[in-house]
Amino acid sequence: MIVTSAQLFQHAYGKYAVGAYNINNAEQAMGLFKGCIQSKAPFIIQISKGARKYTDKRMLEAIIRAAAEIFPESIFAVHLDHGDEETCYDCIDSGFFSSVMIDASHDPFDQNVAITKRVVDRAHAKGISVEAELGMLGGVEEDIKVEDGHATLTNPAEAEDFVKKTGCDSLACAIGTSHGAFKFKGRQSLHFDVLDKIKLRLPGFPLVMHGSSSVPKEEVDRINAAGGTIKDSMGVDVNEYLPAAKRGVTKINIDTDGRLVWTRVHREFFRDKPAEFDFRPPGKIFIEEYAKFIASRNHLLGSAGQLDDLRQSLGK
Ligand code: G3H
Ligand code: 13P
Ligand code: ZN
Repeated sequence: MIVTSAQLFQHAYGKYAVGAYNINNAEQAMGLFKGCIQSKAPFIIQISKGARKYTDKRMLEAIIRAAAEIFPESIFAVHLDHGDEETCYDCIDSGFFSSVMIDASHDPFDQNVAITKRVVDRAHAKGISVEAELGMLGGVEEDIKVEDGHATLTNPAEAEDFVKKTGCDSLACAIGTSHGAFKFKGRQSLHFDVLDKIKLRLPGFPLVMHGSSSVPKEEVDRINAAGGTIKDSMGVDVNEYLPAAKRGVTKINIDTDGRLVWTRVHREFFRDKPAEFDFRPPGKIFIEEYAKFIASRNHLLGSAGQLDDLRQSLGK
């Protein structure tokens, strides 16, 4: 069942975080739905601009509709990840998305406010909610690279002002994470002090954490043992997911870790079976391994086991 992101946030706020997982193809969708059903968790499917371009934007919509039929007990929202203004309008008009993210965080504050406000007005007219971003994460998104030294944490006073001025429904905050597999050098920790200050100024307001992959060492080691050369990778400490959720982070974005599962499965498979050229056997393994990974993350986020209570509170 597709619900709005707002409905998921209302149930989760202060108790657990909803996992927001990116998909690009049918195998990821199958693994994601299976893992969420196994762990009885609500979830958010994220679609990036790159994912919409990978095959055809209609393909992902069709895959998601099919998955919802295959797994009728699932409860999830469909979200545009890191949208620009034009892509937000396209998703709002498609009638398929529960929420969109307008990411104008690389623009100056006033411009970010103006762009976000325009998207909020268009989205709210259609009952769609809007995630915006303030502060700047390091790392690489599809077409934007932010060097380490240019990443800036979210300013709590600005966050309050930004939410008031834009009317956005949730806010992605920069609290020390970055996109991709190389998040930290040395000791890793989220800036809980910043989160606490934002929560004081925006009580009850859903916050979002991007760049939340944990980049498991054992996964990277297996990739490298099978021919990969991923060096000096480091991710978020998974034991920090729940403390963040208790401070108002209701959506935690995980994409890179899923790519690592895919890479490990396929590198190991073709290393061990060099004469194989049927892609379905490793595809099947990936679906099962990704489902296991998703279930494990939902347990760490606290969303595992919430499905029945959520269904009841939605009156479904
Ligand atoms: O934050 C970005 C997400 O990991 C999506 O990545 O733009 O390469 O699809 P993508
Ligand atoms: P990771 O690169 O840490 O998986 O972050 C994904 C993300 O923030 C998607 O918006
Ligand atoms: Zn992101």
